Amino acid sequence: MGLGLRLIQGGRASDGLPGLIVEHAAEIATMAGGLRTGARMDDAAVLSAPDGDAGHEAAPAVACWEGRILAVGPRVELLRALEGSGYSLARFARLDAAGGTVTPGLIDPHTHLLFAGSREGELVLRQRGADYLEILQAGGGILSTVKATRAATEDELLEHGRRWLAEMLSHGTTTIEAKSGYGLDLPTELRLLEVAHRLGKEGPVEVLPTWLGAHAVAPEFRARPDGTEAYVRSLIEEQLPGIVAQGRARFADVFCERGVFSPEQARRILKAASRLGLAPRLHADELAASGGAELAAELGAMSADHLAAPSQAGIDALAAAAGAGRPVVAVVLPTVNWFLMHDETTPARTLIERAIPVALATDFNPGTSPTPSLPLVMTIACLSLKLTPSEALAAVTINAAAALGIADQLGSIEGGRQADLAIWNVPTHRQIPYWPAADIVRTVIKRGRVVMERAAV
Ligand code: NIG
Ligand code: FE
Repeated sequence: MGLGLRLIQGGRASDGLPGLIVEHAAEIATMAGGLRTGARMDDAAVLSAPDGDAGHEAAPAVACWEGRILAVGPRVELLRALEGSGYSLARFARLDAAGGTVTPGLIDPHTHLLFAGSREGELVLRQRGADYLEILQAGGGILSTVKATRAATEDELLEHGRRWLAEMLSHGTTTIEAKSGYGLDLPTELRLLEVAHRLGKEGPVEVLPTWLGAHAVAPEFRARPDGTEAYVRSLIEEQLPGIVAQGRARFADVFCERGVFSPEQARRILKAASRLGLAPRLHADELAASGGAELAAELGAMSADHLAAPSQAGIDALAAAAGAGRPVVAVVLPTVNWFLMHDETTPARTLIERAIPVALATDFNPGTSPTPSLPLVMTIACLSLKLTPSEALAAVTINAAAALGIADQLGSIEGGRQADLAIWNVPTHRQIPYWPAADIVRTVIKRGRVVMERAAV
């Protein structure tokens, strides 16, 4: 890999043993206790070693058994409890966290993992004042990636996916959502979803596919005066049934933005998808207030993503949904505004004050956010959106899991949850966003198996 990493094919099965104990951590940020909103976003449910001494008998440890978390707590108590419940300690491999921090494996709830080509030229165009949507309308942007992606073979897409999933894993990510959306025709959209599914099966990173046929109006429709409307009809009548028949996508997404798809068009697409079993999510108010937040609340979407420019009515609608016990997770993507060199940022502090659950994601894509690193996203969320480090961690673990509807399985270190862990070479989770772009992930565990280790430095 050239990253000093060892990716372990299929995972080291805890030395062939069914159990694994991670011990000698200075801190375990368990994130136990479910979805975080309001002031609770700042509570990482931390267990710490007495006096920061990871060698102390009461330093926190976590025990896994056959891919699930068995228990977490002070080491000696934990070992006693295991033996008391009839477990033989000889059946547990031991992993030394060496005074580091243990967190849940990170979850990236918004990525465009699969595409071909790259768009570094647009960075320079934007430096000279070009606008993101103008580049798209001129046939560049998303459309140039569509051209390259349509021409890519399944094997090329698989290879690209493996490369970037390995990068994500090396930054602590164990589960991602992956959107289609660079095909815009049925065969390519199917290919993208199939590749996403295959990569998830191959592991170790788990991949949840989303259909994003409504990412832009397909090139074939653009010359027609009724192009957008005709494409929306073809999405609902032709693409969607094919996607559902394939059975790979879990969610449907629409780029609802002034100049792309209107809230009325997004509503029709997402309602049709929802009737066929695909839960809705939305690219909402990324560039301008476009009614996306309002629509996400109306539809009870899983998430409203971006929200860099939501209207007051949109924030009120999301707050009302949260207050009514139907929370729509705000998936905030701070590297996008940074990378697009836009001044506006998501009013994340307002969202938290209004008790709207906030998650963070990379939005990994070749146009607006070509980073695979959730720790970098956490840093930018702390610096530009004023999230605290604990809030940022909640946003890439338990709240990110909630955005994907899997918070009962993933996103926290609690008995019964899937044993997905990241071990960091820092003594507290508050240092994760504090060392931007440093490679501080030491070990990653997926379903109780060690799947990545970084050579000691
Ligand atoms: O989330 N805005 C829509 N989709 C992506 C960008 C895709 C691209 O530019 O290729 C986003 O920002
Ligand atoms: Fe996106």
